[in-house]
Amino acid sequence: MHDAPGHRLATRVVHAGLPEPGQGEPFLPGPTFAAPYHLAGPADASLYGYGRYANPTFTAYEKALGELESGEVTLFASGMAAVAAVLLPLLRPGDVLVAPSDAYPGVRTIAAEHLEPRGVAVRLVPTDETALREALPGARLVWVETPSNPGLDRLDLEALAPDVHAAGALLAVDNTLATPLLQRPLALGADASVASGSKALTGHSDLVLGYVAARDEQLVEDIRAWRNATGAVPGPFETWLAHRSLATLDVRLRRGCANAEALADLLRARGDVADVRWPGLGTVVCFDVGSPERAQAFLTACELVAEATSFGGVHTSAERRARWGTDAVPDGFIRLSAGVEDIGDLATDLTRALDASRSASRPA
Ligand SMILES: Cc1ncc(COP(=O)(O)O)c(C=O)c1O
Repeated sequence: MHDAPGHRLATRVVHAGLPEPGQGEPFLPGPTFAAPYHLAGPADASLYGYGRYANPTFTAYEKALGELESGEVTLFASGMAAVAAVLLPLLRPGDVLVAPSDAYPGVRTIAAEHLEPRGVAVRLVPTDETALREALPGARLVWVETPSNPGLDRLDLEALAPDVHAAGALLAVDNTLATPLLQRPLALGADASVASGSKALTGHSDLVLGYVAARDEQLVEDIRAWRNATGAVPGPFETWLAHRSLATLDVRLRRGCANAEALADLLRARGDVADVRWPGLGTVVCFDVGSPERAQAFLTACELVAEATSFGGVHTSAERRARWGTDAVPDGFIRLSAGVEDIGDLATDLTRALDASRSASRPA
């Protein structure tokens, strides 16, 4: 019912959520700025009564994302607001959450600081199908991230979903890294697809937002009710910019993924870089340059690679991941996100910076 027939995803991202053409009308109508709307008579006389509950700019973008994810989408002010909208209303005292030990740190923080103290048992397991299956008995919700980050491990969602359901649990997938262009969790059997839109989905490193896609009516209703109650909505202008950015998702990701693959090949061909990871999709490449000193020297020597956290932007960026202290990675571990620059220029810059950083070694 949610699958728009016919067109491929690369076409859908260009057209998704746009209104029927109207003479003299824009392709994508501008943002609607409203707190209250005119609403005479009964409270339900219009879908649009108050801006925290609904906004035509949200509706258009939610429809677009829903078409791509094959579900009903609820937009949030950030990826973490979307994560919270699944975890907090769903899990009650006595429930069991299974989540990756390498999940996005914010997920682990909510689990440790807000779920466990309320009586939810949290089982953290590696992003590994055997470990996940062993953790299933008694679970209410299984949260996974694939590819995981920064480890970049992948799971077979289609194989995992029936086992999660047989155990009586729901499966929620963090789809941030892949985006619905490269992976459609609901079509693969998951119950919720959750994402930060602050990364590849919008792709210009200038927006923070998130969403949850689901199919089950009750789940969708609960997620919407949570948003209405907590008010975690993005601004209409940010939403409009996000919708505008969607049209180039395929173009951006195609180039970013090709650049990531080429950079992974370049790194694997070097003898002075270890543990090169690229999961076969997405723009993120990880590698270990051996020491924090060399990692910092490399990042400083790069001219085209911005030293920044996050990933999925049109500008290539990288960081020494261990600087946050939140992930079990070696001190010289770099997480790099390939942008859409010319690959020849990127390869030259990386090679030069890696060569220049070789002399930076750990102090005796
Ligand atoms: C995989 C993943 N999920 C969720 C989030 C949270 O998203 P946001 O920063 O938009 O709140 C992030 C942010 O880095 C992330 O990388």
